[in-house]
Amino acid sequence: MKFVRFIMKNAALASVPKHIEHFSKFSPSPLSMKQFLDFGSINACEKTSFVFLRQELPVRLSNIMKEINLLPDKLLTTPSVQIVQSWYIQSLMEILDFLDKNPDDYKVLGEFVDALVTIRNRHNDVVPTMAQGIIEYKEAFPQDPVTNQNIQYFLDRFYMSRISIRMLINQHTLIFDGTLNPVHPNTIGSIDPHCNVGDVVQDAFHSAKMLCDQYYLRSPDLILQEMCSKKKKNLPMTIVYVPSHLYHMLFELFKNAMRATIETHDNNNNLPPIQVMVSLGDEDMSIKVSDKGGGVPFRRIENLFSYMYSTAPAPQIEERTRPPLAGFGYGLPISRLYAKYFQGDLQLYSMEGHGTDAVIYLKALSTDSIERLPVYNKTALKNYKVSQEADDWCIPSKEPLDLSIYKVPK
Ligand SMILES: Nc1ncnc2c1ncn2[C@@H]1O[C@H](COP(=O)(O)OP(=O)(O)OP(=O)(O)O)[C@@H](O)[C@H]1O
Ligand SMILES: [Mg+2]
Repeated sequence: MKFVRFIMKNAALASVPKHIEHFSKFSPSPLSMKQFLDFGSINACEKTSFVFLRQELPVRLSNIMKEINLLPDKLLTTPSVQIVQSWYIQSLMEILDFLDKNPDDYKVLGEFVDALVTIRNRHNDVVPTMAQGIIEYKEAFPQDPVTNQNIQYFLDRFYMSRISIRMLINQHTLIFDGTLNPVHPNTIGSIDPHCNVGDVVQDAFHSAKMLCDQYYLRSPDLILQEMCSKKKKNLPMTIVYVPSHLYHMLFELFKNAMRATIETHDNNNNLPPIQVMVSLGDEDMSIKVSDKGGGVPFRRIENLFSYMYSTAPAPQIEERTRPPLAGFGYGLPISRLYAKYFQGDLQLYSMEGHGTDAVIYLKALSTDSIERLPVYNKTALKNYKVSQEADDWCIPSKEPLDLSIYKVPK
C-alpha cells in the first residue's frame, strides 16, 4: 500500500512541470477592491469563489514558479531556496487535486477551505527562508551588480505574488469558514470598507513604542495631524483598505523612525517627536511619517530598498522569539510592495543631518485600488537575461586628478 502511494506521489510529481507550463500560459486576473467586496457581500457564493480560485491560484503559483527557475543556479540550489520551491510544488499539487471535484458538493467546499489553511501555514516562513537563501548565497559567492539586480527584480515580484496569493486565500477562508470576525464585525474578510487611517496610525505607533521602550528604555512621542480637501471637510478620513497591510507598513516606518531618533539623540534628554500627517485628496490618501533622526545620505536611499543590503546583522530564524527593532533589512522593501499592491507607493525623502520623511501613497477611491500583479512573459524573461554592459556615463575616478598634464611646458 505504502509502495503504491509512493508511486502515485512520484507520478503526480513528474506531472508538475507540465501543469506549470500549462497554467503559466494564463495571465493572472487582478481583482479590484470592488470585486473582493462582492465576493464577500451578502450574496457571496462560496461555489463561485471556489471555481475561481482553483484556476486562479494555480495560475499565480505557476507564473511565479517559472521565474524561480530563472534564478542564478548558485542561488536556486541553496538548501533554503530548494525548500521554498518544494513548498510551492506541494501547494500547487494540492490545489490541482480539486480540479475534477464537484463544486456542488458542500463536502468538497469544506475540504477546499481546509486545504487553503494548510497551504497558508506551509508558506508562513517563506520570507525568512528566502532571506536565508540570499545570505547563504552572499556568503559563498562574490556579488556582482547584474546578479544583484536580477535578485532584486525577482524578489520584488516573488513577494508581490505571495502577498496576492495570501490575500486570495485569506478572503476565501475568512469569508467561508462560517464564523463572524468577533474583533472586527464590519470587515469583509480582511478588508475594512471604512478603514480609519488615523486609528491604524495610533495602533501601529503604540506597538512600535512598546518594542522601542523594551529595547532602549525610552521612545519618542507621536504628533498626528489630519488634513483633507475642502470638499471632504466633514467626512471621516477613511478608505476601503486592508488594515493589516496598512498596519504592517506603518509599524515598519515607526520602528525605523524610532531607532534613528534614539540613536541620533543619544545624549539628549528630550527626544524630538515623530510627526504623522494624514492627507485625503480626490485621488490620493497620503500618509507622511517624519522623524528628526539624522537622515540618510541621498546616495544610499536606493540601497535601503535592496534585499541584498542591510545595516543590521540578520537575526537567526530560530532566535526570533521577540521581534527585533531591526532585522533582515526587509522592512522597507516589503512595505513598499504592500503599498504598490493596490496601486500605491512608498517613498523616502531624507535630509542627511536632519531627518527623514517617509510617505505612503494609497488610492483614495476603491475603484482605483486594483491588484498589481507580476506576469511571466517575454518582457519578464528578458529582464533575467540582462548582461553586464559598459556604463554609458563616465565613472568618476576616486583618485585626485593629476593636473600636471595640463601644465604648460616651459
Ligand atoms: N527613518 C530613518 N532614518 C534613518 N535611517 C533609516 C530610516 N529608515 C530606514 N533607515 C535605514 O534604512 C535601513 C533599512 O531599513 P529597513 O527597515 O528596510 O531594514 P532594517 O530596519 O535594517 O531591518 P528590518 O527588516 O527589521 O526593518 C535601516 O537599517 C536604516 O539604516
Ligand atoms: Mg526596519
